[in-house]
This record gives sequence, structure tokens and C-alpha cells, in this order.
Amino acid sequence: MSLTFENANLDHTTDSAAEILKAGDKKTAEVIDQVHLDEIGHVRFGWEWLGKLKEPGQTMWEAYCANVTWPLRPALGRGRTFHPVGRVAAGMDPEFIRLLEESQRDDPQGEGADD
Ligand SMILES: [Fe+2]
Repeated sequence: MSLTFENANLDHTTDSAAEILKAGDKKTAEVIDQVHLDEIGHVRFGWEWLGKLKEPGQTMWEAYCANVTWPLRPALGRGRTFHPVGRVAAGMDPEFIRLLEESQRDDPQGEGADD
């Protein structure tokens, strides 16, 4: 939940707040910004627990991939536009962020991954 859906929300909220602000609705954009800040905390929660529960010697990426079951997958932990800042704020390491950014939303079975 936290490292897939809430992780992707770090991108969705960033993009949504910008679009809403562009449309002139500052009040709603501020609400979405608050949701973004909430999601940072939720992602941090999952990140910290994965670090505590993973096997010794496993990287965080290996532990995440070993515990995310299809149709969930790393590519669903990001939006179409990737914003690393929220991941840094959640405490994720640079390698995990890089691998997440490289994750492709198109799946090998051709089912796509629309939001
Ligand atoms: Fe959340």
C-alpha cells in the first residue's frame, strides 16, 4: 500500500495541485498539497517497516520487489511524471528512487497501467 499506491500519489498530488492551481483554484490546490504532505508520511511509514522486516543482506529494492505481487508492481509506485523530491522527503535511498523512476508503466502482458 504505502510503497506502491501512496508512493504513486506523491506524483499524482504534485501534478494535480499544479493543474488545479493553473485553473485558478488556489484553495483546492492547497488541500491537495496537504494530501501530498500526508502521503510523504505514509510512504515513510512503509519505507521504515520494509527496512525493519526485510531479510539481512537484501537491498530495499530487492525486498520491495520480493513482496509486491502482480498486478501490483514497481511501475505502479510512480506516476507518468516522476517527482523524486517527495521520495527524498520520505527517506528513501537514492538507488531505490532511481530504480523506481526507471520502472516502466507498460507491462509485458500488454495490459497497460492507466491510473
Ligand atoms: Fe496515504
